Amino acid sequence: MTFPRKSARLRIRLDGQQVSVAAGSSVAAALAARPPSNSRVSVSGERRAAFCGMGVCHECRVLIDGHLRLACQTRCREGMQVDTVLERGYETRDTIAPDNPVDHDSHCDLLIIGAGPAGMAAALAAAPSGRAIVLVDDNPAAGGQIWRDGPGTTLPAPARRLREHIARHVNIKLLCETRVVGLAGLPGKPALMLEDTRRGWAQHYGALILCTGARELLLPFPGWTLPGVTGAGGLQALAKSGVPLRGQRIVIAGTGPLLLAAAHSARKAGARVVRIAEQADWRTLLRFACRLPRWPGKAMQAAALFSPHLRSASHVLEATGDGRVQQVRLSRADGEEQIACHRLACGFGLVPNTKLGQMLGCELDAHQGLRVDDMQQTSVADVFAAGECTGIGGNERARVQGAMAGHAAVGELTQAARLIPDLAHWQGFAMALRGHFALHPSLLSLARPDTLICRCEDVPHAALVACQSWIDAKLHTRCGMGACQGRICGAATQALYGWQPAPPRHLLAPARVDTLAGLASHSQFPD
Ligand SMILES: Cc1cc2nc3c(=O)[nH]c(=O)nc-3n(C[C@H](O)[C@H](O)[C@H](O)COP(=O)(O)OP(=O)(O)OC[C@H]3O[C@@H](n4cnc5c(N)ncnc54)[C@H](O)[C@@H]3O)c2cc1C
Ligand code: FES
Repeated sequence: MTFPRKSARLRIRLDGQQVSVAAGSSVAAALAARPPSNSRVSVSGERRAAFCGMGVCHECRVLIDGHLRLACQTRCREGMQVDTVLERGYETRDTIAPDNPVDHDSHCDLLIIGAGPAGMAAALAAAPSGRAIVLVDDNPAAGGQIWRDGPGTTLPAPARRLREHIARHVNIKLLCETRVVGLAGLPGKPALMLEDTRRGWAQHYGALILCTGARELLLPFPGWTLPGVTGAGGLQALAKSGVPLRGQRIVIAGTGPLLLAAAHSARKAGARVVRIAEQADWRTLLRFACRLPRWPGKAMQAAALFSPHLRSASHVLEATGDGRVQQVRLSRADGEEQIACHRLACGFGLVPNTKLGQMLGCELDAHQGLRVDDMQQTSVADVFAAGECTGIGGNERARVQGAMAGHAAVGELTQAARLIPDLAHWQGFAMALRGHFALHPSLLSLARPDTLICRCEDVPHAALVACQSWIDAKLHTRCGMGACQGRICGAATQALYGWQPAPPRHLLAPARVDTLAGLASHSQFPD
């Protein structure tokens, strides 16, 4: 796939007005360039804007050519019509379209979900077997979270090479802007329900590899729903997709190496990163740094990303502003500080994306990743998993696991076993990450009674502390029942209240009416 020239521009209509944007920009970038830059108004009337930057929170949902879509996951196209939405009282064209022919069934030997480092490595390892492979990703291009492209970035050489190799294999069919929305199929005839921008269908498979990656842990604090507050990796993803940051003052807070990577991306986009608040103390950071020489590439990366604005033992307390974040209050080892800013990006670590695996019946391990054996096989027959959905450990570990899963899924166990020493090397890095960035308990008590915990249904902390469990909260408050299907508040309530969110039974994400209608007749999806 060729990316448009960086200087090329195109025109879209945004809330009825013509707007010019850089070719390759996301719709979220177009929204951010136009004040007040919100995408929607919430059920209690708050203005909201892109938050996670990676298709998880659904805060950026807008009407695109009449269909409800995610602005962060959709590239602008010439003549596109974009309309921001009020939470209630908008109309979509998402009805059954008799003139839109739907292929209800498709078959492949190997289905891979997620075209990040793990998914691409899996497809390339399996390809020489000649099997028919379908590689699915909801992003506009392959690359996953680390190798997103757009007008705000240049892809590194390894990512470009992987994409070129994928394109050379005629038995790999890459489907981008395509997401798994649920389970389909019948007993003995497994299938997933897929949806792209035009249609939905049941994708049957012989074997399945889950490479669904991770998302950020986003913890609630007063002001976290204000436009301008994003995830740390979310800010990075939005910057790469063209969201303008030039000249903006940015505060980054949370924990882990992603804070430094996000700061680097923001600086490259022309922002002034005025503070990086890391919750771990300096002794912990020093201990982590001392272990890095075992992985020289990681040590060099950390040294290159170091910033004089980094403060240890510091965390966010509150974001304030009139309709948008304007100020941040941070705790420090010696007190507090207030910083004026245009954006606040907070990330409290990563959480493996396991819901699809759990829907299929796969078991979790002690660290909340999908449990796999030494051939990347999950607890369900013919279902493999690789990369960060099995635990957080970086793109190198994801690539090794992906290659092992690709070989194992086509029966090449000897080739898979040859990679076991490589995996052990990178597994050590995963353990070092886990051991040094554990969250300080004070981060779990930032929410006030009126702080919204469920951003989709606007459920405050006060309403949830009275509940006993995730199910109890769902039944009594609608927490977790909105568009993101609990992917933001599920992890937050797990951290805050110790609840274990139950995986969805059939639907992973909101699906169009015509997808559901087309599949209801011949799948396990209930009428
Ligand atoms: C926001 C964010 C930013 C990051 N930035 C960096 C960085 O700068 N540097 C770094 O070293 N590491 C970064 N990481 C860590 C990074 O995720 C890993 O190191 C590496 O990308 C993991 O590879 P993976 O293939 O396991 O998962 P990912 O790269 O996360 O790929 C998973 C893919 O699966 C797709 N997917 C998930 N569910 C579905 C579904 N239902 N339907 C269709 N597609 C689906 C996702 O869109 C994604 O493209 C970041 C992580 C996050 C969450
Ligand atoms: S910002 Fe688009 S889904 Fe979260």
